[in-house]
Order: sequence, then structure tokens, then C-alpha cells
Amino acid sequence: MNVLKQIRDQFASALDSYTDDAPQFAGMIKPAGDPKFGDYQANCAMPLGKQIGKNPRELAAELVAAVELDELCETPEVAGPGFINLRLRDEWLVAAVNGLINDERLGVEPVAEPRNYVVDFSAPNVAKPMHVGHLRSTVIGDALYRILKFLGHRVVGDNHIGDWGTQFGMIIYGYKHFLDESDYEEAPVAELARLYRLVNQLSDYHAAAAELPQLRRTLAERDADYASAKSEADANDKKTKKRLKKLAKQVEGLGDQINAAEKKIAAVDNEPDLKALADAHPDIAAAARGETAKLHAGDAENRRLWEQFIPQCLEALQTIYDRLEIHFDHSLGESFYQPLLADVVADLQDKGIARESEAAICVFIEGVDAPFIVRKTDGAFTYATTDLATVKFRIEEFDADAIIYVVDARQGDHFKLLFETVRQWEFSDVELQHVSFGTILGDDGRPFKTRSGDSVGLESLLDEAIAKAYAIVSENDDAKPNGAELNEGERRRIAEIVGLGGIKYADLRHNRESDYVFSWDKMLATTGDTATYMQYAYARVCGILRRAEVDRVALRQTGALIQLSHESERQLILALLRFPEVLAQAAAEYRPNFLTEYLFKTAGVFSTFYEHCPVAKAETDELRDSRLLLCDLTARVIARGLELLGIHTSERM
Ligand code: ARG
Repeated sequence: MNVLKQIRDQFASALDSYTDDAPQFAGMIKPAGDPKFGDYQANCAMPLGKQIGKNPRELAAELVAAVELDELCETPEVAGPGFINLRLRDEWLVAAVNGLINDERLGVEPVAEPRNYVVDFSAPNVAKPMHVGHLRSTVIGDALYRILKFLGHRVVGDNHIGDWGTQFGMIIYGYKHFLDESDYEEAPVAELARLYRLVNQLSDYHAAAAELPQLRRTLAERDADYASAKSEADANDKKTKKRLKKLAKQVEGLGDQINAAEKKIAAVDNEPDLKALADAHPDIAAAARGETAKLHAGDAENRRLWEQFIPQCLEALQTIYDRLEIHFDHSLGESFYQPLLADVVADLQDKGIARESEAAICVFIEGVDAPFIVRKTDGAFTYATTDLATVKFRIEEFDADAIIYVVDARQGDHFKLLFETVRQWEFSDVELQHVSFGTILGDDGRPFKTRSGDSVGLESLLDEAIAKAYAIVSENDDAKPNGAELNEGERRRIAEIVGLGGIKYADLRHNRESDYVFSWDKMLATTGDTATYMQYAYARVCGILRRAEVDRVALRQTGALIQLSHESERQLILALLRFPEVLAQAAAEYRPNFLTEYLFKTAGVFSTFYEHCPVAKAETDELRDSRLLLCDLTARVIARGLELLGIHTSERM
């Protein structure tokens, strides 16, 4: 049962006679920040009082009188300018927590009105190996998938793979001109990735060589502008200072661009083999675009190659998904929707939503400068067209009530245009959400890359995480007071769940919209807000139960009950009872970090409890059973919470 929801619902009915926005004001009720102020706190009387011109303390007193919470709470207290402090009744807490002892779902009732969700996540562009940039969508999407499902919704996980983009033209061109057959035999995806990088590098080389002279000319001009601005006017003049600053910035920017271009050129010039290839393929970028166009137009040879590459690429992706235990119900990539695109555009035109502009077909959205291009001048359909067809398909085939896109924040504009176009089109009542997220950064504050500047491959990242976790697990085990407890196989199994859990948790614990710095040390630390800490906390609770030699399942069936004898027990009970409300909040805002935060806090509350309340040596047998039951429940909440984040636990570590 969701305590917060019950309180909010009660307040909403009381608030109804004061405002049309009762749920909004009831939504301001939160768990209290400090136990001093009770368990929950309602701060709605101040803003509402202001709005309706009523003294907030008076309003608070009226609300307290009207609200029917007698069973759940002590008489609420009005404090300060009009805060309402709520304290749950001890008898109620005890009865509620005892209701969890044999509840598989730990108090989480399936939602009354299940919805059909489509979670669009991971969605890498294939034929390139998965890299660290794909991690966030995969991990956040998987957690949301699990949470929504556990709450009782019907959820379809769909991997909208990029299997139709321009990268295929590059790979096809590379395959036709630079293939190493034996490498391809041996490791096809690695060879395709090499071909992709090679074609990319040669294209970049020619582009850099073509733009360098102009960049240098512009730099010389700006340098001159700077020198003259500096010499002629009063250098202390505010306007001049501003201008100089602006010019200096431009000069610096141009310098960076020139450096980058020179680097690209040198990388090829310094390798005679590469240089020879570059010279032999001067129009490589246009030629690769031509190969993409041919593929899209149905050219038999390119189609055959594409059909040959795709299963190889999917297999490589699958190895990663298997390791991370990521499951999709469908993997309908961009190519799947190609036959539907012409109709989408025609329909949008018929309905007057899209129109021709400069030989392209576009949707114009008020307030957004860029048009949503659904057919380009050359007749090609776009990422946008595909996404429109995808929405229609998901509504028709999956009966979607909500589609959530777990995609990088940089695609924000795309989704704004997409959602607005869909609204105008025909599906106004489906919920569309861009669950956006920031970038993973390296120590230098730039997107996380290898030292040589390549993107970090996911496969090797996972290997490294597990290797580092192995060292930590072994070191911890060796340091145990009575000697090591784990054999080699156990250490390896635990290293796997610690390493993979560490990577996932580090990603999930941040507010998803923020960027975060990738740090092995922070991610695998045994203290602090990490998976490792949570996993050790779980193992510690299991250890308490094991040393007390209780059969946990049997204990739940003895009829023994949880009792309340100490404030730290009360805090633990309260925390355990909050699990349902936290999941509901995480789902409502699509924020797994609400769950990590809760689990971390709960582990802390448990530590305090364990410091103050002897378990195995409790004063009476009843108290011992009661506390063992609290340990058991804590372990179950932590394990279930981590499981909903896609993270495993181990009873021994
Ligand atoms: N493949 C795209 C990319 O890598 C992400 C696709 C997200 N999903 C969608 N329906 N647009 O940028």
C-alpha cells in the first residue's frame, strides 16, 4: 500500500472545497526531511493561502480538521507559518509492516488501471560496435521497463535499432574496396567496424584538406581584426574590451578547428598506406552517400550485402545484451518501417499537416524554427518519417497508451517536433515522453573517450569492470577476520555481479538529465552510494540471519510478529513501508534515481537500527524474532529494489 498516496488522496478531498487544483496542492505533501517534523509534511497551506487570500495557519487548521486520517495518523500538528506535520500511528505502522511478512510483492499493489507502455530504449546504430554512449539508454530503459512491469502495467520493450542509416553506405563502400577477407571470415563485425572507421577517416581527411585553406584565411583575418582593434581604440573602453574578448574567442575557436583538421590530415599523411588509399579515393564521401542511396532505392547487390551484414551485427549486439541481461520484446529497427513511409507522408499531406517547401516536404510547428522534414529534396525519407511511422505502428499494433523514448538529451528538438506532429496528426491521446539523459564524461569534463580519442567499446568496458571488481572482492575476502570465505568460483561469480552492477548503478543513481563523470573508483567503492555498497549491505543482512541460524522462509510462517520497541526500529519500519510509494514516484517521473536514493537511505537506516538493537541477542525470544523479521524484510526490499534496476545480489560476498 502506498502511504503517501493515501495521505495525498485524503488531503485532496479536503482541499477540494478550496481549489480546483486539489491534486496539485496535495502533491506538495512529502516525506518529512527531518523526523523532528513527523513522518510526512504538508506544505500546501502557504501557497494555497496566498492564492485564495486566507491566513495559511488558519487554512492549515481547517484542513487538519477536515482531513480523515485518524486511522493512519496521529492528530496532525500545525507548525510555523502553516506547515502540517503528520506522524503515522505506531499501531498502524506495526500492523502494516506485519502485513508484509508474507507478501511477495512487499506491499506493492498492482496498479488499478494498467496501461500499455512502449519503452523505446537502447536503439544503437548498428554495424558499429556498441560503445559507452549506448550505455545510458540501455540501462535506464531497462530499469524503467522492469519498474513499470512490476507495478502491473503491460510493457513492450522495443529496440528501435538504427539499421538503415548512412553508415551502411560507408560500410558497403568499404566492403567493396577495402575488405580483408580473412579478417571478415574470422570476426565479421570487427572487420565491418574497421571498414566503417576507415571510410570515415578517409572522408574526414578530404573534408579537412578542403576546408583548411579557408579556415587559415579566416584566422588571419580575425588576427588582423584583433590587432587593429587593440591598436586603434582606447583599450579600456568597455565596448572595445567586449569586442576584443569576442575576437579572441573566435581566434581560439578557429585555432581549435585548424588543429583538429591538421591532426586528421597528419594521421593519414604519416601513414604511406593510408595516404595511398586517400589519393586513390578522392570522392569517397560522395561515393559512400551514393551507396546508401542505392541501398535505399533497392539496388540488388547493396541489398544483398545489407542482408548479409545485419544478422552479424545483431548477433554482436546480443552478446552485450546477454551479458547485461537486457531483454527486449521486439527489435523493430528503422528498416522495418521503410515500406510504410510513403503512406505516412501522403497522409500528412492529405490532412494538410505537411506541405512542400523548397522541394522538400515539411511539417512546420509554431514556435519552433526548424521544420520537421519528412521527405528531403532528393526524395529520401528521414529519421523523422521513420519515427512517425513507428508511432502509428505502436498505437495500432501494441495499443499503446504511452510511448517513452529513452534517448540522449541532444535529440530534444527532434522529439519536440515529433510529438507535436503526432498530436496534429491523429493520435492526440497517447502519452509521448522523451526520457532524456545527459552525457557520460571523462575526467577532463568532455565526453568519455579512450586516450587515443576513440569511443570506449562496451565489451571491453564490461571486462574491465569485472576485473576491477574481482580485485576488490578478493581483497575484501582476504581481509576477513577469520580468513577468506570464498572459493575461486564464488569470487568470479561475485566479481561479475559487482562489476556489472557497479556500472549500471553509477548510471542510474544520477538525475538522468545531468552529465556525470565516469570514475572507476567512485563506481566500485565499498562505501557511499554505489552498487557495491548496496550489495555488501545486502550480504551483511543475510549474514546476520545466517549466523542466527534461522530458516527465513519458516520464520515468516511461524506467526511471529514485528514489534516496535525502539525509535530506530520505527524508522526502519517506516522506510520499508515506503517502497511502494517510491516505485510509484520513480515510474511517474521515469526516474530510477528515486529508487537508488531510497535504497541507499534504507541501508543507512538499517545500519542505525543494527547499532542500537541487538538482534540475535535480543532481550526476549519475541523481540529476537521480531528483529529477525525486520532483517529479513530489509534484505528482501534491497534485493527486489536492486533487481528492478537490473542488478544482482549475493547472500555471501
Ligand atoms: N538510433 C538512434 C541514435 O542512435 C536512437 C533511436 C531512438 N529511438 C527513436 N525512436 N528515435 O541516435
